[in-house]
Amino acid sequence: MTKIIQASEIEEGASLLQDGQLVAFPTETVFGLGAIANNADAVKSVYAVKGRPSDNPLIVHIADPEDIFDYMIDDDPERHDLIEKLTAQFWPGPLTLVVPVKPGTFPSVVTGGMDTVGIRLPDHGTTRDLIRATGFPIVGPSANISGKPSPTQVAHVMHDFDGVIGGVVNAEPTRIGVESTVLDLTDSRGLIILRPGYITKSMLAEVVTDMPIYIGGTIANNAEEAPKAPGMKYVHYSPNQPVMAVSSDKMSNVLADLSSQSIKVALATSENNFEKYKTSVASIVSLGPTIETATQQLFAALRTFDDQENIQQIVVELYPDTEKNGAYRNRLIKASSTVVE
Ligand code: TXA
Ligand code: MG
Repeated sequence: MTKIIQASEIEEGASLLQDGQLVAFPTETVFGLGAIANNADAVKSVYAVKGRPSDNPLIVHIADPEDIFDYMIDDDPERHDLIEKLTAQFWPGPLTLVVPVKPGTFPSVVTGGMDTVGIRLPDHGTTRDLIRATGFPIVGPSANISGKPSPTQVAHVMHDFDGVIGGVVNAEPTRIGVESTVLDLTDSRGLIILRPGYITKSMLAEVVTDMPIYIGGTIANNAEEAPKAPGMKYVHYSPNQPVMAVSSDKMSNVLADLSSQSIKVALATSENNFEKYKTSVASIVSLGPTIETATQQLFAALRTFDDQENIQQIVVELYPDTEKNGAYRNRLIKASSTVVE
């Protein structure tokens, strides 16, 4: 049985983790699937229950900013200063820093055998208490079966892992709704955003003024040179039915076309377009009034439709290509088999 652990019972979550069991935990982005990061067997079972490829390294979650220096090779004063600047501004928060791992601190299964490690300080007090009570950092990939939308609610974690993991820490739905920005600090050319998230290039550039910042994959045309997070190459966020990402401009044409083929459509759309389309589809959810609400609700909408019978096509509104919309667009386009804009 999977125990729902209340914030007041955090010691119980910590003992499960110390025993090598898996405990899902809330963050500001999505729920993570926790295992104590010094137990190779526990970490292996994270890969096993998720069905996650073993070459896709895990993020290590810490409870206090200065702890990052205990787990990395800290021999470069410039990098040390850079980390202090970044963490003062963005931690706790949705920014993962990829740094050279200190040999011997984590079993190699944590880092997928790489000589770097992704470290993050989540903006969730209960989870930081859990890490402190556990006494060692915890790994935490998103707490979903690999390939499925990431979990933003306790119910999503239970849907995928009830009876499979030791517990889940109870909390409200997550505030941001997509995973952290992953930033590589180990490339001599500059800082590289390996995965887009709430923290954008412009936000980073306000703090880091003396180094170039690149979006991974755009730094060089040579594929071999283009650094990426290993996880970015895998199928992601996909419900059972095909997903189409459609801009507001193209929406009426696309829905008319699907309707002429008698295809049963589920639509997730901005609040603005909700009234306009609600009678022309089999199922509809509103993503709210802003890009923030849409980002927060995207994965929940995909999961809602996933569990509905007789839906044949999921359609989700694709917001315009601006920096602020970047993380939403990245996740939706990855989930989609067709993009119309
Ligand atoms: O918001 C988040 O980051 C959530 C919450 C639970 O903290 N966690 C999360 O973990 O999204 P996961 O495992 O689903 O995604 C981790 C991403 C993957 O794309 C992985 O390849 C990349 O980070 N990554 C981890 N360690 C890395 C490393 N050493 N070098 C490059 N990429 C790394
Ligand atoms: Mg994930």
